Amino acid sequence: MATSPVVPDKRPQEELNRAVIFLGPPGAGKGTQAKKLAAKYSVPHLSTGDMLREHVARGTPLGVKAKPIMERGELVSDSLVLKIVAERIERPDCSHGFVFDGFPRTVAQAQYLGELLKQHGYRRPVVIHLLIDTALILRRITGRRTCKMGGEIYNLFERPPKVEGRCDDDGGELWQRPDDREEIVGPRLRAYEKQTEPLVAYYRRLGLLHDVDASKSVEEVEQQIWRTLHQARGKH
Ligand code: AP5
Repeated sequence: MATSPVVPDKRPQEELNRAVIFLGPPGAGKGTQAKKLAAKYSVPHLSTGDMLREHVARGTPLGVKAKPIMERGELVSDSLVLKIVAERIERPDCSHGFVFDGFPRTVAQAQYLGELLKQHGYRRPVVIHLLIDTALILRRITGRRTCKMGGEIYNLFERPPKVEGRCDDDGGELWQRPDDREEIVGPRLRAYEKQTEPLVAYYRRLGLLHDVDASKSVEEVEQQIWRTLHQARGKH
């Protein structure tokens, strides 16, 4: 009997050599899983949310424009996001593939990405669609705390740090994102339903979408993603 592949402890022997896209509502676990997968393959984890937050923290012109939009839980304009993504994937560290988290978020972004990947000679992407109930989303978002130093993600209900307010790995201070307040979760979910959910049909039509049950534990979701990638490898 064939056994299901399990997530290897070490770096897999084969290169990723493609883009993996994590698609799902706020709090579904895109960042948590995208980081793990990128580390496993030693490829960059490209979170447009993190890139935008960095611009906000540095007070760049882009950050100044993005800050109020992000704080309202709305999407930043396609033109701003596409510019930072196009620049980022030009860098040499992306030559063996990369893992997107929170991008693309609109059909226009997906179409642009499709062209960009073709231009760079990549295979078609694998899209991991994380499915989760709204009740769980609220718990995951309001409980999330992130390390200011290393970016490690915690959850006060599901995965609390050993010492309150401090990262287990590097002792960095844990902070709550301004858009993780309960009153901003509604607008973020509405933006997802209106602007991002159409991507589910878009990628399904292209035969690139793979559903994963994101309500399970971090380890179980990681296993499902790993199996999905193995199955997708031969198909597209
Ligand atoms: P972004 O940073 O992308 O946020 P998001 O999509 O709303 O997603 P989140 O980061 O909230 O959740 P996640 O799915 O990554 O969950 P996580 O793994 O952290 O975007 C922020 C803003 O930036 C947007 O609103 C927009 O303004 C702008 N923006 C970004 N990209 C854009 C784009 N492309 N176009 C336009 N605007 C853009 O997990 C959540 C919590 O759950 C954590 O506490 C974690 O520990 C816990 N958890 C995760 N998995 C599990 C599990 N399996 N079991 C138990 N707990 C779990």
